[in-house]
Amino acid sequence: MLMRLLRLLPCEDAHHVTIMALKYGAGPRAREKTDLSLSLFGKRLRNPIGVAGGADKKAEALAGWSRMGFGMVEAGTVTVDRRPGNPKPRLWRLKPEQGLINWMGWPSEGMEPVLDNLRSFQDKPERKNLMLGANIGSVEGKLEEFAQLAKACSPLVDYLTLNASCPNLEHDCYKDAPEQTAAEQIKACKDAAQGKPVLLKLGPTMDQAVLSRMVGAATEAGVDGFMATNTLAHADRSLVQGLDIDWPKHGGNPIGGYSGPGLLPIACFMVKEIRALVGKDMPIIGVGGVQSGADALRLLDAGANAIQLYTGLVYKGPALVKEIMQALAERRG
Ligand SMILES: Cc1cc2nc3c(=O)[nH]c(=O)nc-3n(C[C@H](O)[C@H](O)[C@H](O)COP(=O)(O)O)c2cc1C
Repeated sequence: MLMRLLRLLPCEDAHHVTIMALKYGAGPRAREKTDLSLSLFGKRLRNPIGVAGGADKKAEALAGWSRMGFGMVEAGTVTVDRRPGNPKPRLWRLKPEQGLINWMGWPSEGMEPVLDNLRSFQDKPERKNLMLGANIGSVEGKLEEFAQLAKACSPLVDYLTLNASCPNLEHDCYKDAPEQTAAEQIKACKDAAQGKPVLLKLGPTMDQAVLSRMVGAATEAGVDGFMATNTLAHADRSLVQGLDIDWPKHGGNPIGGYSGPGLLPIACFMVKEIRALVGKDMPIIGVGGVQSGADALRLLDAGANAIQLYTGLVYKGPALVKEIMQALAERRG
């Protein structure tokens, strides 16, 4: 019923209502009937199902996500300063494809409100059962901002993710020397992260050479894990077969990044390639296009330790978490 009502609202408003509902205790509860726990970053993870970056930018609904059954939530993208993001509309449903195009551009109230929310969550009973990540970004790629964010967030979370792959920012600090830029940013985060793992979130590519260079530079810089993949820019749309959509435009130019089922084969390819490059011990989180239990298993089978999702929740709601739990339980037998 609530899902049907949400679909009547513009997508960004529906998202806001969902966050508020979760924040104030509404929403279903799900609990594993089979033990789905695993170890990640040396900690116990209740199950390998996570909320992807961007879904709870301000860390407002952490207890609600945990009640819904998630084992992990990645808050953010957190930025140091307040910024409005791109003008609205900036989020579109692609109903036939069960996808989204988002051109959010990191709307943010700055890091202080996020830190307040993370702080007030630490004493809640749900904290013990939820792996927390902070997804951090600097619009201009400033190393001092990464260091500031890493220093402030790391005492309150279990890991940090460096968002090196958002297609929605005017300034693209990765344009000229992506590997070198990412490596410098990883080092700046690691120096400030007080021992907490630092992950790198990559954009979609099916180019082995590009991946290999990025993974090599990041590993050398001391990265603790990888995340693949972020949303797909218009320029890369040919990577998704049959993606015949009316891409939104601003000032005559196509804008935003695609998420949805078409990302799953790309995320699987990337996870597989990264796993082959880094070996079995480096954590990899798979994200992109998971909209069923079978999708989740496919990404885990490609070599991911855990998965995250966002767009699937918009279309399937909390039932998706239950379906994935069921598929994982059947797999464990
Ligand atoms: C509305 C929206 C906002 C997003 N914001 C962020 C963000 O702030 N940081 C980030 O790393 N990824 C962000 N993402 C990307 C997701 O975390 C994820 O990588 C992508 O949507 C693919 O997964 P999905 O197909 O399950 O949605 C956003 C995605 C959407 C749809």
